[in-house]
Amino acid sequence: MARDRVPTGITGLDTMLSGGLPFGKSYLLSGPPGTGKTTFAAQFIREGLERGENGIFISIDEKPSHMIEDLESLGWDLRTPSDEGRLTLLDVSPYFNWVRYSKANAVDANEVLQDLSKQVRRINAKRVVIDPLVPLVLHRDRMHDVQEYIRKLIFGIDDNLGVTTLMTTHPGPWSFSSGDNGIEEFMVSGVITARLTKLDTGRHVRTMFVRKMRGTPTDLVEYTYTIEQDKGIVIGEPLFEAQRRAAREARDLGLSPEGSPLSREANGHAEPSPVPLPAAY
Ligand SMILES: Nc1ncnc2c1ncn2[C@@H]1O[C@H](COP(=O)(O)OP(=O)(O)OP(=O)(O)O)[C@@H](O)[C@H]1O
Ligand SMILES: [Mg+2]
Repeated sequence: MARDRVPTGITGLDTMLSGGLPFGKSYLLSGPPGTGKTTFAAQFIREGLERGENGIFISIDEKPSHMIEDLESLGWDLRTPSDEGRLTLLDVSPYFNWVRYSKANAVDANEVLQDLSKQVRRINAKRVVIDPLVPLVLHRDRMHDVQEYIRKLIFGIDDNLGVTTLMTTHPGPWSFSSGDNGIEEFMVSGVITARLTKLDTGRHVRTMFVRKMRGTPTDLVEYTYTIEQDKGIVIGEPLFEAQRRAAREARDLGLSPEGSPLSREANGHAEPSPVPLPAAY
């Protein structure tokens, strides 16, 4: 039987996903800094609250109070549901203090799971966010340990908690990446990738792509999106449409594909002399 859908609150994305994320599994949102991962995660939690589904937001890089303030500037109030006990904002720094003081080299996955399970039962949460996942595993240095840890954490959450979980991550040179894809991408039920893309006009646009979604047909098209006051993430046109328009605009403005005025070199003149790299390179 098909799983119930859990709408993310991002209308265009929910349409693409046949209504939302399949219930009860873990999903990964991957993107570099500033792409809107925390905004996405907060939108997912807010959508749940509006539907009467309590949520848990584990904020790892940012103090929950700072995150609340940032979201207030977007017009969103997470303070009230938190005061009302419908939303639990968890600061995980105590775990890291424990790691520091005990000289352990990692946060224990079982301990995280036990604590999370208590919190879920306490407010009967249906949605969980871990933003971001990376520091929870970064202390681990052996690849096998990292894989086991992530497996334990993700399977433990999926099998036992009865929640739909969104984890954020940033692509980067941390140890548990294997080639282009982090190991965690193979273990979760869906992966959404966000990035900034430069158009021919030189302007950047935010783009999003559903890379994987088990049990759901996906069109594998990369879409542009904006972050807007009150609305949060709003899906726009496919990237290829934006690129086509930008290429036309760039041509009309006499810009090179990189967004700068057409150079002498680009017009068939001599090759540019190489710019020496700073010594640090
Ligand atoms: N009120 C607003 N209107 C439009 N855009 C906004 C508004 N508030 C924040 N933003 C945009 O949202 C971006 C930050 O989004 P967010 O914090 O969700 O990103 P992130 O991917 O979580 O970043 P990090 O990796 O640093 O945690 C900012 O760079 C800013 O451009
Ligand atoms: Mg963030």
